[in-house]
Amino acid sequence: MSKLFFYTKNQFFNFKSDQTTAGFEFLSMSQLLSSQKINNLDVYQQYYIDISSMVGFVKANDSQLFNFEQLFNSFGENISFICDKAYEKDIKYIFRYIFDEFSDVETESDEITDEVQEIPATKSSSVKKITDLDDAELDLFFSNFDARLYGHERFKEEFKELVTSFRVFNKLGEHKILSLFLMGDSGVGKTEVARTIHKALGSQAKLAKINFGNYSSHDALNSLIGSPLGYIGSDGGELLKRVNESDVGLILIDEFEKADNAVFNYFLDVLENGKIVNSQADEYDVNGYIIVFTSNITKENFKSKISPELRSRFDYKGVFNLLTDEDKKKFVHFRVNQIIAKYREFVSADIPDRLHDVIVSEINVSQFKNMRDLNKKIKDTFVAHIKS
Ligand SMILES: Nc1ncnc2c1ncn2[C@@H]1O[C@H](COP(=O)(O)OP(=O)(O)O)[C@@H](O)[C@H]1O
Ligand SMILES: [Mg+2]
Repeated sequence: MSKLFFYTKNQFFNFKSDQTTAGFEFLSMSQLLSSQKINNLDVYQQYYIDISSMVGFVKANDSQLFNFEQLFNSFGENISFICDKAYEKDIKYIFRYIFDEFSDVETESDEITDEVQEIPATKSSSVKKITDLDDAELDLFFSNFDARLYGHERFKEEFKELVTSFRVFNKLGEHKILSLFLMGDSGVGKTEVARTIHKALGSQAKLAKINFGNYSSHDALNSLIGSPLGYIGSDGGELLKRVNESDVGLILIDEFEKADNAVFNYFLDVLENGKIVNSQADEYDVNGYIIVFTSNITKENFKSKISPELRSRFDYKGVFNLLTDEDKKKFVHFRVNQIIAKYREFVSADIPDRLHDVIVSEINVSQFKNMRDLNKKIKDTFVAHIKS
């Protein structure tokens, strides 16, 4: 049995544009059935198939139901189904042996209301947090997260368990913040975890990110939370500013090892109390938030650099390794498809034949020890083929 997502008329184009950017391809049922498209689906591509047009068809041709039931059984994991919410009642009944789970897509509607344009003064109630999602939204969060982050299977499993436990104990008031400490070499995808959570929570705003690589260490705490009161040029600090600008319950602290002890102790407090307080005593409630800390330090240096109190506070501590060649290949397929889809949508549909296969065959993934370089290689190869 599969799951079906409903969208409303006002959501469709936003939803499509968000998901196309994320690499999904959209097909209506009729596009799928015509032109043999159905036999040429790419196993590395994620698709949304829109089944809205089937409702009227099956209602008028009862005899086709048998064929359709069989058809649905043949789809793989890379296919998701969507339908106009106007058909919800009919479709739930007609395809009662096909779909057993339903939820609504998570996209703002196209209509801009005054409410959306004005940024409310106390924003924290409108922030989407992992602890606020209902079960269907959580499923959607994880399917998005898993589809966008390549490899790291063990981490994904542990993350799921951590989130499940966090949602329970946060309600009981025993677990204020879910903290992840990700170590590993540059370019293996540590920051990508935060970007992926940010997108999977459906953010329309900037990721709340602090990079300690940008701070000179002696005044890191001042830059973070503002200088002490009365100090000339004192402000509220970057942390509160970033968190205020964001619309989801996630904070990324990059290159955490470059911070100093004062900053480490500050975060110990934040994790303990679920509150961000700056030098001017402004408070912001971050209860229910996820905080991702990333660092290039090795497992050995982790112990000498970070105090035992803080270490034991992190809910997850793990070393990230470079993706396997198999996962890198999947990533290349995905990225090439994503770039081609965007190029089609925003630039031109005039694309050389079999471009996807050509680019993929030119990239030897085992040469790349860093996802950033691999990504650059994909871009360069794409551009070279578009020019010629
Ligand atoms: N598992 C992954 N899935 C998808 N993209 C990834 C993955 N890992 C890395 N990338 C891409 O590779 C680049 C480098 O990853 P990043 O997370 O910034 O590395 P770092 O470990 O240094 O924080 C980014 O552009 C990111 O989009
Ligand atoms: Mg990084």
